[in-house]
Amino acid sequence: MIWASPSPLATLPTPLEMGPVLDGGVRLYVKRDDLTGLGVGGNKARKLEYLCADALAHGARSLITVGAAQSNHCRMTAAAGARLGLEVHLVLSGDRPERLTGNQLLSQMFGAHLHYTGASASHWGELEIYRESLEDQLAAEGLAPYSIPVGGSTAVGALGYVRAFTELMEQCIAAEIEPAAVVFTTSSGGTHAGLVAGRAHWRAEHPGTPTPDVIGIAVAKGVAAGRPDVAALATEALTLAGLSGLVDPKDVQIETGWMGPDYAVPTEDADAAILWAARTGGWVLDRVYSGKGFGALLGMARAGRWVAGDAVVFVHTGGLPAVFSDHGAPLP
Ligand SMILES: Cc1ncc(COP(=O)(O)O)c(C=O)c1O
Repeated sequence: MIWASPSPLATLPTPLEMGPVLDGGVRLYVKRDDLTGLGVGGNKARKLEYLCADALAHGARSLITVGAAQSNHCRMTAAAGARLGLEVHLVLSGDRPERLTGNQLLSQMFGAHLHYTGASASHWGELEIYRESLEDQLAAEGLAPYSIPVGGSTAVGALGYVRAFTELMEQCIAAEIEPAAVVFTTSSGGTHAGLVAGRAHWRAEHPGTPTPDVIGIAVAKGVAAGRPDVAALATEALTLAGLSGLVDPKDVQIETGWMGPDYAVPTEDADAAILWAARTGGWVLDRVYSGKGFGALLGMARAGRWVAGDAVVFVHTGGLPAVFSDHGAPLP
C-alpha cells in the first residue's frame, strides 16, 4: 500500500522556525520545506517520495516529467532519478540556452536528459504532446517510462503533503502554537491538495480541536482561473490512502491578487519580501514561487487579515536554484 511505503528521498521532519513578530502583532513561523534535502531541497521531494514509490511498483526504469525552463520540480525529479537509478527525461519550455544556470544546470549535473521544446512557459499543451511522443519512444526502447504530470500534482504526489500536515501539527503541539493559518505558494495544486486533505484527516481524527486555515497564494493564471480542482484532488488523495476525513470545497482558499501580470513576472511586493526575508531570517526565496507567496503573507498581515498574537506558518516551498538564474534575484 503506497501510503505506508514511500521511497525515502526527503530529510524529514523539516524544521519549524520561529520568526519575528510582524506589523500588526502577527507571530511568524517558517516551515522549512526548502530544506527537504533531495537535490538542494524544496516541496517536490515530499511528492517524489510517493511518485517514485509508485513508479518502482509499476516496474519503471525511467521517469519523464515536464516543466518551465527553470522548473524546480524537474530538477528534483532529476535528483530522485539519480538516487534511485532511474533514467530521467525532462521536457522543458524554451530553447537550450548557451550557458545552463540554476535548476537547468543542476538537472544536467544529476544526469537527466534535457529536451527543449521551444514552447512558451504557459503552453502546457505543447509540452504534454511532446511528453506523450517521448513516452512512446522510451517504451519502444524498453525503458518502461513512468510519466509525472506537471508539478507532480497527482493524488499520489499529494500524499506527501497529507503527511506534511500531520508533521506540522505535531510540531505546533510540541511548540505550544495554535496557528491561525498556513500560507504557501500554489501552482500545479498538489501541495495545496495534500495540505487540504491532511487538514480534513486531522479534523476527523481530532474532533473539536481548532485547525489552521490553509491558504494558497496563486502564482499562475490557471490557478487563478480555478484549475486544478484542489478539493477533488484532495478527496482523491484521502481515498487513495484509505484515510478518514471529508473535504469541503470551502476548505480550499486561494488568494489570486499576488501574482502580478503573469507567471514568473517579478512583482514589487515579492521583491521587497525576498530582501526582507534574506535580511531578517537569512531565508532565501525566489521570484517565481516562494517570494510571491511570502510577499502575500506580509501584505495580508499588514492589511489586518489576522489579529495581534495570531501565529501564522509560512511553508517555505524552496526555489533556491532559480536565484542563480538570469534575473533570479531582485539585486543587479
Ligand atoms: C518553489 C516552489 N514553490 C511552490 C510550488 C507550487 O507547488 P505546487 O505545484 O504543488 O502547487 C512550486 C512548484 O513548482 C515550486 O517550485
